[in-house]
Amino acid sequence: MDSIIIEGGTVLEGTVVLGGSKNAALPVIISSLLTADECSYGRVPALRDVSTTLRLLSRLGVTIEKDVLAGGRLELTADKVREIEAPYDLVKTMRASFLVLGPLLARFGEARVSTPGGCAIGSRPVDLHLHGLERLGARIRQDHGYIDARAGELKGADILLDFPSVGATENLMMAATLALGETVIRNAAREPEITELAGVLTKMGARVNGAGGEVIRIEGVRELHGMSHEMSSDRIETGTFMVGAALTRGNVLIEDARAEDLEAFIVKLRETGARVEAEPGGLRVAGNGRVRGTDVATLPYPGFPTDLQAQMMVLSAVSEGTSVITENIFENRFMHVQELNRMGARISLDGNRATVRGVAGLSGAPVMATDLRASVSLVLAGLVAKGVTEVSRVYHLDRGYENVEGKLARLGADIRRVNRDG
Ligand code: UD1
Repeated sequence: MDSIIIEGGTVLEGTVVLGGSKNAALPVIISSLLTADECSYGRVPALRDVSTTLRLLSRLGVTIEKDVLAGGRLELTADKVREIEAPYDLVKTMRASFLVLGPLLARFGEARVSTPGGCAIGSRPVDLHLHGLERLGARIRQDHGYIDARAGELKGADILLDFPSVGATENLMMAATLALGETVIRNAAREPEITELAGVLTKMGARVNGAGGEVIRIEGVRELHGMSHEMSSDRIETGTFMVGAALTRGNVLIEDARAEDLEAFIVKLRETGARVEAEPGGLRVAGNGRVRGTDVATLPYPGFPTDLQAQMMVLSAVSEGTSVITENIFENRFMHVQELNRMGARISLDGNRATVRGVAGLSGAPVMATDLRASVSLVLAGLVAKGVTEVSRVYHLDRGYENVEGKLARLGADIRRVNRDG
């Protein structure tokens, strides 16, 4: 099993090149199930979650050409789908696998998908996905840990989401593209990944309006066709490097970063004293002498993203004053807190609220990663801790960050990956 070893105290300087967005890529790749034509994708990040998705698609019978690891290009053709079941071993490692439900049901009239089960950051139910599909006319049964969904033909419906779930919005949007008549999704998620998926579906011939807003309208069509799409930059990777630059009082240009996707985060980062400037090539972030603590509450987009909460907490941990960080999206998304406290942070928890009392410095320690964003926050903490930090179980990190140690090393960090298997 790999670990990442960091000797703290360096300053991040230079330019970082971002990968394609993980959270955009997963639903976009899955949308290839909606057509028998070839779909071609560029800038696909070489991440474990992407290979899990490809394993699943391949098991369903999708033909995969080109290797993501060799240049980020991928061609998928779902003309010989022979299987409509997404098994537990793939859904349990990655909840986004559940997104095959909508497309399979819409195109083949049936699907059998394992329920995701518990997960390190909360129970993560799928009731909103299922309620929406039932509104579209699907008959849903749950047995032996699987969701069995059947529909002769899906029929457009008016759906109100009780919470703007990203995954439910994506699943329903995909299902509705091939339903009969109009579907309206109210209280839809507004994340940039929703807008990107809607753009892809439109290129495939779908009729989608309003994505990026609270109400999405989809007029079903008989069939969709192939197309080509380049993934946009990963906004969470962007935010992670922005925190790294601010934290180490560095100066980093993040190439191709899109400020418009991170407005709430940028407001908060500026409140801590960091300089953030848009330049023609991307976003430049520079830290200066003092870091001030600031309160943060995670919210659905356009609020502060939950996927940047752990990283922001590291900055608060070494800032002046006290910050209150409230997690409103996921229960249990504070597993980094104990590990940060072992490095000398002073963070106390009360339900979904963390009170972070800034300390003058952290000290390196062996720490353990427990989920994707928690892992990267420990790497960030290692950058400013005195001495050596070893982050173990970095397979979580590999789910969502492409070569993070290589990118940080190029910016001047003293960081390396080691294999502890012997
Ligand atoms: C996506 C992102 C993830 C991000 C999250 C919130 C991907 C692959 N993952 O996850 O990185 O942290 O959005 O921005 O894009 N919920 C229900 N019932 C449902 C569905 C969701 O109660 O049927 C709850 C969840 O338990 C959670 C909240 O809604 O508390 C948000 O979940 P959701 O927006 O669906 O997140 P994901 O799509 O899983």
